[in-house]
Amino acid sequence: MQDVPEFSIMKEGINYRYYLNGQWQKSSSEKLIPIYNPYNNELIGNIQACTKKEVDELIKIAHENINCWEDIPLNKRADILNKAADLMLKWSKSLGFLLMKEIGKPINSAISEITRTAEIFKATADSSFQVSGETILGDAFEGYTKEKVSMTYRVPLGVVLCIGPFNYPFNLTGSKIAPALIAGNTVVMKPPTQGPLTALHFGIILEKAGVPPGAFHIITGRGSEIGDYLVSHPLIDMINFTGSSNTGKNLARVAGMKPLLLELGGKDAAIVLDDADLEITVKAIVSGAFSFSGQRCTAVKRVLPMPGIADELIENVTDETLKLTIGDPAENNKIGPLISSEQCDYVQGLINDALDKGASLKCGNKREGNIIWPTILDNVNINMRIAWEEPFGPVLPFIRINSAEQAIEISNKSEYGLQGMIFTKNIDLAFNIAQELEVGTVQINGQSARGPDHFPFLGTKSSGLGTQGIKYSIEAMSRPKVIVINLSEKGKLVKECFISEK
Ligand code: NAP
Ligand code: G3H
Repeated sequence: MQDVPEFSIMKEGINYRYYLNGQWQKSSSEKLIPIYNPYNNELIGNIQACTKKEVDELIKIAHENINCWEDIPLNKRADILNKAADLMLKWSKSLGFLLMKEIGKPINSAISEITRTAEIFKATADSSFQVSGETILGDAFEGYTKEKVSMTYRVPLGVVLCIGPFNYPFNLTGSKIAPALIAGNTVVMKPPTQGPLTALHFGIILEKAGVPPGAFHIITGRGSEIGDYLVSHPLIDMINFTGSSNTGKNLARVAGMKPLLLELGGKDAAIVLDDADLEITVKAIVSGAFSFSGQRCTAVKRVLPMPGIADELIENVTDETLKLTIGDPAENNKIGPLISSEQCDYVQGLINDALDKGASLKCGNKREGNIIWPTILDNVNINMRIAWEEPFGPVLPFIRINSAEQAIEISNKSEYGLQGMIFTKNIDLAFNIAQELEVGTVQINGQSARGPDHFPFLGTKSSGLGTQGIKYSIEAMSRPKVIVINLSEKGKLVKECFISEK
């Protein structure tokens, strides 16, 4: 892959810098954090371990520049987002290649993570027309007249802290940055330490697109060292976070009274009724469970089949899973490495627990390096950890059920509430079940998924707080500003009235 000359400014050799006020800086800590390719353990870069003093400096500058960015007309901010999207498209292959190396995502999916982010930037620019308000007259309430007029428009919240997860480090920070900027906020971004390199390029992309220094900054360092300090910082006005439920819950405790948008973990269940279309269901389950080796919040993480379809469904899902190619992400294999060997140990622990307690192995349960072969477990019951815990790996448990009521009960017993799925031809029944599921979204005859990116995306319970999706994210990162004008009755024209009061 050819080097992009524009990228040379952000690093010395493989030592990346952090981005403060339009400058690429070395941390005074003189500490670097190594980033390894999870497929072959190759060292691909080092990032700066920034200090708390550097956090202070960076957030202060973001705070001081709120007005300067907000004052740029909305249509100009939209132009900047469009230019940023064009640069992402121009550099999508180089960025996708780096992303593939740092998180082990299959190369085609890695490139489409970049192009999908460009589409979000373009759609956010188009949505600038939605940054608007309304005018209301007072006379709808007893005792008030039309002379009391409220004008409401939307204003930014201030400095928005954007923190993303390792599995979509470019896209899930980009989907926060674009609506934050269009709404007029300045942005401080902290990329995940497992997968920070591609996201660091937002510094180059946004600067070249025309974001002035001061409006966008990137701080790097381990969440365990600077995370609490960042989120509790008094000059951070809003936090838009995607990551695990544990980190999200801690963040909510530490952040105090700041507005939060939290997209967290999931344990999405697919309920399969006897009359489901087998071909559609099998395809959705295999793709849903094993894309990016199961490292997606929206992965299909449990299947609850009814007795009339269970045997055939499990056989067909197993047959299709055995066709998935396994190995080097550069060769676009469907199953690649998990992000770390610790994560592999965790996933293996879930498999072992289920097998020890009597689950039947249909395929998988093999490990080489950081790759775990796609594993299907039948006859899983509610006493096994895999029935409840989020593996974030390629493991799919089947929990056989006898009724829709039982499926609803098992689905809802989860601490998570991201998405649910129902596969059936009976749309009336599907609709009734959907109403009972305690999740953000129910997919009928389709796999759980976040996109398309203008749809609302949210979790209930431990899966999150607030709603993401272009229009919803803009709303979450702005607030109404209300100005009430009390017009004088004195200037009122006297008109003849033909309706007499009784
Ligand atoms: P994670 O360990 O929670 O990390 C997420 C981000 O939080 C990283 O940038 C991390 O930085 C940072 N962080 C760590 N400690 C922090 C602290 N004290 N304060 C502030 N930030 C802190 O999650 P992950 O392993 O990257 O991602 C996998 C999880 O994310 C899964 O549970 C998955 O379901 C969830 N997820 C949810 C969605 C959704 O939209 N619902 C989407 C994608 C992923 P460091 O890397 O430096 O520790
Ligand atoms: O990992 C969580 C992401 O929000 C999932 O996005 O459904 O497009 O893969 P996706």
